[in-house]
Amino acid sequence: MNNVRQSPSVLIFDSGIGGLSVYDEIYKKMPNLHYLYAFDNEMFPYGDKCAEVIIDRVTSVIETITKSYSISLAVIACNTASTICLPSLRSKFAFPIVGVVPAIKPASQISRNKCIGLLATKATIQRAYTTHLIQEFAKDCTVNLLGLSELALIAESKLQGNAVDILQLKKLLQPWLSLPTIPDTIVLGCTHYPFIKDELQKIFPHTTFIDSGNAIASRVYNLLNEQYDLSKEKASLTNNIVLSTIYNQYVEKLISKFENYNLNKYQTIKI
Ligand code: DGL
Repeated sequence: MNNVRQSPSVLIFDSGIGGLSVYDEIYKKMPNLHYLYAFDNEMFPYGDKCAEVIIDRVTSVIETITKSYSISLAVIACNTASTICLPSLRSKFAFPIVGVVPAIKPASQISRNKCIGLLATKATIQRAYTTHLIQEFAKDCTVNLLGLSELALIAESKLQGNAVDILQLKKLLQPWLSLPTIPDTIVLGCTHYPFIKDELQKIFPHTTFIDSGNAIASRVYNLLNEQYDLSKEKASLTNNIVLSTIYNQYVEKLISKFENYNLNKYQTIKI
C-alpha cells in the first residue's frame, strides 16, 4: 500500500475575522502547514448570544467541516466560545482542540502597579471560567472588567478598510479612563481586539496590551510536533482555505484581505 502521509491540517475557528489575529501568529511560526480558517458570520457576533446556543452552534460548524476535511488539530480562536465550549468539543472530536482564553496569568505577572484590565465581550466577562482564571492567577491584582459588544464590530469594520472613530472608542472606554488607578496592563480578551490595538494604545498610552496569540502558536507547535516532523512539512501555500457560514457582500469584500494571509480559496459551508 502506498503510505503517503498528509501534512497536518489545522482548523482555526472564530465567529468572525478576529481569529485571523491568532491564525497570523500560528502561520508565522508554521507557514508550511495546511490551514482552514472558518468563521461563523451567519451568527456573528457571539458576544451577545447565550452559552447553550454557542455550544450547539460551534459543535455543528466543526462537525460540518469534518465531513469534508480531515482535521489534525483545531483552534477555537474565540474567547467567547472557548470559555464555554471546550469540554463538550473535546468529548465529541478525537483531534486536539486548543482554546483561546484571556491571558490573565501573564498580565498579572508583568503588571507593576498590580492593576490590570480585562477587555472582552460581555459573555466572556460573565463566564465562570473567567472568574476562575482571575481567582487562580491574579489574586494579588485589582482586576477591572469591561465587557463591550461594540469592539468586535469596530474591528470587523476596520479590517474592511474603514477608519476607527477614536472618539467613539474613547467613550466606550470611559469607565477605565476615570479609574483612580489606570491599569498598566490590559488583556485583550477577544481575538478581534489585536486589530484595534494601535487605537487602544492611543487612548491608554502608558499601558501594555497583551493577547494570547503567541502563546497559542507555541501550544499548537508543541502539540503537532509530538506527531509530525514539522521541519519537513511543505504544504502548498495555495491550498489554504477560508470557510464561512454565509456568503454576502461583506465576505466578497474580505476575500482580497484573506489573500494577504495566504488564505487563497473560499467556500461557503451550510449549517
Ligand atoms: N472573537 C470573539 C472572541 O474572541 C468574539 C467576537 C464575537 O462577539 O463574536 O471572543
